[in-house]
Amino acid sequence: MNACEQLLRNLENREATVGVMGLGYVGLPLAVEVARSGYRALGFDVSMRVVEGINAGQSHIQDISSEIVAAFVGEGLLSATSEEGRLGGCDAISICVPTPLSKTKDPDLSYVVAASEAVAATLRPGQLVILESTTYPGTTRDVMLPILEAGGLRVGKDFFLCFSPERVDPGNPVWHTRNTPKVLGGVTPACLEAGLALYGAVFDTIVPVESAEAAELVKVYENTFRMINIALANELAQACDRLNVDVWGVIEAAATKPFGFMKFTPGPGLGGHCIPLDPHYLSWKMRTLAFRTRMIELASEINAEMPGFVVGKVVDALNRAKKAVNGSRVLILGVAYKRDIDDLRESPALEVMQMLQEKGAAVSYHDPFCPQIRDDGHTALEGLPMRSRELSDELLREMDAVVLVTDHTTVDYARVAQHATLVVDTRGVMRGTPEGASVVGLSGEGRPGRNDSLAPAGGAVDWSRVVAGAADSQVAGFG
Ligand SMILES: NC(=O)c1ccc[n+]([C@@H]2O[C@H](COP(=O)([O-])OP(=O)(O)OC[C@H]3O[C@@H](n4cnc5c(N)ncnc54)[C@H](O)[C@@H]3O)[C@@H](O)[C@H]2O)c1
Repeated sequence: MNACEQLLRNLENREATVGVMGLGYVGLPLAVEVARSGYRALGFDVSMRVVEGINAGQSHIQDISSEIVAAFVGEGLLSATSEEGRLGGCDAISICVPTPLSKTKDPDLSYVVAASEAVAATLRPGQLVILESTTYPGTTRDVMLPILEAGGLRVGKDFFLCFSPERVDPGNPVWHTRNTPKVLGGVTPACLEAGLALYGAVFDTIVPVESAEAAELVKVYENTFRMINIALANELAQACDRLNVDVWGVIEAAATKPFGFMKFTPGPGLGGHCIPLDPHYLSWKMRTLAFRTRMIELASEINAEMPGFVVGKVVDALNRAKKAVNGSRVLILGVAYKRDIDDLRESPALEVMQMLQEKGAAVSYHDPFCPQIRDDGHTALEGLPMRSRELSDELLREMDAVVLVTDHTTVDYARVAQHATLVVDTRGVMRGTPEGASVVGLSGEGRPGRNDSLAPAGGAVDWSRVVAGAADSQVAGFG
């Protein structure tokens, strides 16, 4: 039996051990699904805190419960280690390490290279390696393959190499790791066959594509699509502001078109580990081929303006109340990059807070999902670590302005409206607030002379009820 046949047999009989390198937002859910499929999942992480936590049956990822981790650890189907020497004992290895950008927005593949070198150190015939980390087209073949073949083994014959982009959407109650269709591309046809044998058992639907490059491009195209459409919604918000038209009403009405429209919403700026970063991977690659991705550049520019646009709204609103930003107390409501999650990475809230601090405001925050903002070396915020303040009536009353950056569903916005004197609402959830706070939105809602009477009392319009038969258009926000 050759190496490929042995691998396929181990996968089919569930006798395979599947290594998952990097046990973060992507890797831990994947390791759990691997274990659920009956394979032994062996997680690798350079963080001892993560390794010890998993082995003790504790999850550090919001979407994965400690109960499920403890159950698989108890059954012997899930364990974690930081000993890279154990990679050689795995039949297959999925790599889910970070792919950040440098300060100049160039790809930082150092984690992918380090993981590939660790795999190469113990690579043996019959192993399958799948890269999951988001990256530019060509990374699997041009960067990983030479590292893996350096020891003399040949791809497609001795070992197998694929790219399969992770599509995890943290906090999404419907689409999770297993039921989200999984795109898969092999470096050779035999690689794709091996990849299908494993992932076909772990995921409900596999979408095979012609090559690893095609699979890499699918991921950056998906996220570029979102980034550009969010930029269009942000540009619309700025246009509506000048036209004195409610941007939310325009978008909701447009979303009633049953065909040819997909709803995206404006907001305070891009956030998360994917949407603000991934398109730059494609831009960088295309620059090496003397091609400018102009749509990406323009959309990035528009999205990057949004935190400043929001701060401008705060300045103007305070000014109308005859107050200066300098010395004003400003509460940021919601600092995670999107609703109902605890992830602060690239969150526009941090930029809004920093800009307000630079103008002399005394900035504090409330976020039920993020009890603390720590100094991770990526933010110039003053006063770190900063703790979330309890959202009391007194706190709301003593603030000169409340800036609603992230619309967590557990916050009582009616209470905010009742006790705050001024709210700058970047998410449109407090449109039509009947009394109490003066609410200013992205497109000037609440501005003197505006007729906001179409927005119902007590919060945002629930257009799914108002517009009978409205199209069930896909709602897309940030990150
Ligand atoms: N978070 C998301 O929503 C999401 C969605 C789709 C794709 N992605 C992509 O998936 C990849 C991973 O993202 P994430 O959000 O899971 O990152 P993360 O930071 O949550 O987790 C990465 C983990 O990898 C570990 N690690 C780093 N170097 C390692 C090494 N050499 N060996 C073993 N472990 C190592 C880190 O300690 C960390 O625990 C990125 O390329 C990202 O762009 C993320």
